[in-house]
This record gives sequence, structure tokens and C-alpha cells, in this order.
Amino acid sequence: MGNKITELIQSHRSIRKFTNEEVANEIIEDITLSGQWAPSSNHIQAYSILVIQDQSKKQKLAELTGNQVYVEECPVFFIICADFHRLHTATKKHQSTFEINEVENVMVGAVDAALVAQNMFLAARSYGLGGVMIGGIRNNPEEVAALLELPKYVIPIMGLCVGYPAQSPQQKPRLPRQAVVHHDRYEKDKLEQLLDQYDEETRRYYMERTNGKRSDSWSELVAKHFSTPKRPHLKGFIKKQGIHLD
Ligand SMILES: Cc1cc2nc3c(=O)[nH]c(=O)nc-3n(C[C@H](O)[C@H](O)[C@H](O)COP(=O)(O)O)c2cc1C
Repeated sequence: MGNKITELIQSHRSIRKFTNEEVANEIIEDITLSGQWAPSSNHIQAYSILVIQDQSKKQKLAELTGNQVYVEECPVFFIICADFHRLHTATKKHQSTFEINEVENVMVGAVDAALVAQNMFLAARSYGLGGVMIGGIRNNPEEVAALLELPKYVIPIMGLCVGYPAQSPQQKPRLPRQAVVHHDRYEKDKLEQLLDQYDEETRRYYMERTNGKRSDSWSELVAKHFSTPKRPHLKGFIKKQGIHLD
């Protein structure tokens, strides 16, 4: 089974090198419009999309995301934020209380933003564009907020670099389907065996991709990832933006 849309989805790979070709404004508008057609929890539409084309801002954002040069080099960089500022303004019209201090709200904003971002990514790809999402936007959120004049209750969730691809990387293998898709109950019985199989596959993938320089298995990458805290500053940032979770 398969069709044009599933083929587009299943041919995904992140692109980090772009040609100099500009992206037409009509295409950018269609990408952001596609973002807006994502479903939204309770229809509150708790997100905003920032379209960054100013070269000096992209340069600064490349630094703030951890010196990720493709943020500067892509013709258009989107930032998808969880946004409760607009919702606060809407609530104020009705002299109602604004019960924002809940983990649930942060989850709703992050989920809404992620759905928008993936819609935008697919819309971009349907125009022959490529890109990569940038979680590095959460590395220095206070500086990002100051640079982009983000109001209270707005939290950047991810960036999205978009441009015409100047590379054609191999697809990164995904986990075996049995490790991810469960039927009628959570099937964990074969997990270790499936992980061994996937570790072998990823080791081969990295060996091939790096001409033998890297041979990491997926579980080694996971172990490294969880060996240190990632962004402990986010708790304070979210609080500074007006959401008090404790
Ligand atoms: C929310 C999110 C944040 C990401 N952040 C970054 C990032 O900051 N820098 C980067 O180079 N890739 C980033 N990526 C891309 C992932 O590394 C990539 O999707 C993953 O390695 C799988 O590779 P593929 O997209 O080519 O299949 C991010 C992906 C997602 C979904």
C-alpha cells in the first residue's frame, strides 16, 4: 500500500544544506497557512509562527541555537512557539480568571506547536523544499525571547529551517515496527532482541554514512543522551514567561 502523500511522508530526511535560491513569498504563505490547518486542542490554537528572513537575526539565532550554521544559511527560518499571550488577551475581554499555571497548558501548547510544525514541514516538502527542525531554539530561550520581542506567555518550542536542498542524505533507519506498534496490549516481550537488531542496523548506517569514522549504535546514542540533564533552565524560563508550575 502507498500513495503520493504517504510516499512524501515516508521519504523524509532532514536537510541541513541549502542552495541560494530564495523561497517565493506565496510558498511561505502556503506553508504557514498549512500550519494553521493543524488540529488544535479545544480549538484554542495555542501557537504562533515567526517567519525569520532578516539575515542578521538568522545569524544571531544560529549562535543562540548552538552555532547551527544552517539556521543562518537557510533562506527562511520559522520559529513555532506555544502562545498563551493571545489567549490571555481573549480571556481579558470577558473579565474571567486566567488559570494558566498547569503542566497541562504547557503540554497543550507544545503539542499544538508540534502539529503546526510538522504540517509546515510537509507543506514545504510538497514544494520540493527540504528542512530540519531545530530544538536548539530552547538552548537560550531568554535571549531568543529578547531578540524577537516575545511577550509574556510565549515559549519557543522549535525552529524549522527551510530551503531548496543542496544535499541528498540517506534516510536514517527507524526502529523496527514491532518495537513501536503494539496490538491490543503493550507488547514488550521482544524488546531487547529488537533493540539488538536495531543497534546492528544503526551501526552499519553510521559506518556507511561516515566512511567508518562513526559506528554508534542507537542504544549508545540514547544512553549518552540521557546521561546528563538537557535544558534544566527551561523551568525558570517558563516561569519567567508567566507560567508557574510549582
Ligand atoms: C523537535 C525536533 C528538534 C530537533 N532539533 C534539531 C536541532 O536542533 N539540530 C539538528 O541538527 N537537528 C534537529 N532535529 C532533527 C533530528 O536530529 C532528526 O529528525 C533525527 O536525527 C532523525 O533524522 P531525520 O530527520 O533525517 O530522519 C530535531 C528534530 C525534531 C523533531
